[in-house]
Amino acid sequence: MKITILTLFPEMFEGFFNSSIIKKAKYKGLVEYRAIDVRSFTENKHNRVDDYPFGGGQGMIMFPQPMIDALRSVKTEKSHVIMMTPAAPTFTQKKAHELVSNYEDIILLCAHYEGYDERILDYVDEVISIGDYILTGGETAAMVVTDALTRLVKGVITEDSTVYESFENGLLEHPQYTRPVDYEGKVVPEILLSGHHEKIRLFNLKESLRKTYRYRKDLLEKRNLTEEEQVLLNEVISEENEK
Ligand code: ADE
Repeated sequence: MKITILTLFPEMFEGFFNSSIIKKAKYKGLVEYRAIDVRSFTENKHNRVDDYPFGGGQGMIMFPQPMIDALRSVKTEKSHVIMMTPAAPTFTQKKAHELVSNYEDIILLCAHYEGYDERILDYVDEVISIGDYILTGGETAAMVVTDALTRLVKGVITEDSTVYESFENGLLEHPQYTRPVDYEGKVVPEILLSGHHEKIRLFNLKESLRKTYRYRKDLLEKRNLTEEEQVLLNEVISEENEK
């Protein structure tokens, strides 16, 4: 897979592309990353990339020309072009899977300052927001999407580690523990040390339901629970309401 970022701040990606799993994916040859400097595509003398909005309003608006010329310099017929913007559907784990399964070549456009000329959207395939808040630019959002896609590329991390995670089965992930068994008097739940696989499975499922009930009830409403899950959730609800 190839991920290309079009940005006014390519230097922001140096640390990101050279750390952790992203770096590993690059060295394993599984994902190719590049950050393209949109400013180098300006055609005006002063390398300006933005101007005041027509009709008035706050802030500066990015010109279409440097961004579209940068896009033309990297786009192929295989490319899937995505604009990072808060005015878009929210990114999800499902969307991450969809992008990784369907596209080999993804281009993420980052607008900075207060906005971008709307005509840029005529050159993109879709728009993505990473959440209901406004960032200073699309760069950190593009990092979020790049990170989420990278870990789903086959071979980047062991497949098992993605199966039981939050959102993969419509629930938040259950709590996990490692050594020591006793940390400042806080003790790992005994059942996890028992070696009894079925009891551990039920315990983890119940704790996964508890986290989802506490923090993301909306996920429970969206999901059809199995009979087993419903029984465990009823227990969770009465325990949580007793508190
Ligand atoms: N640019 C600014 N805010 C953003 C957001 N929430 N998601 C994607 N791009 C953005």
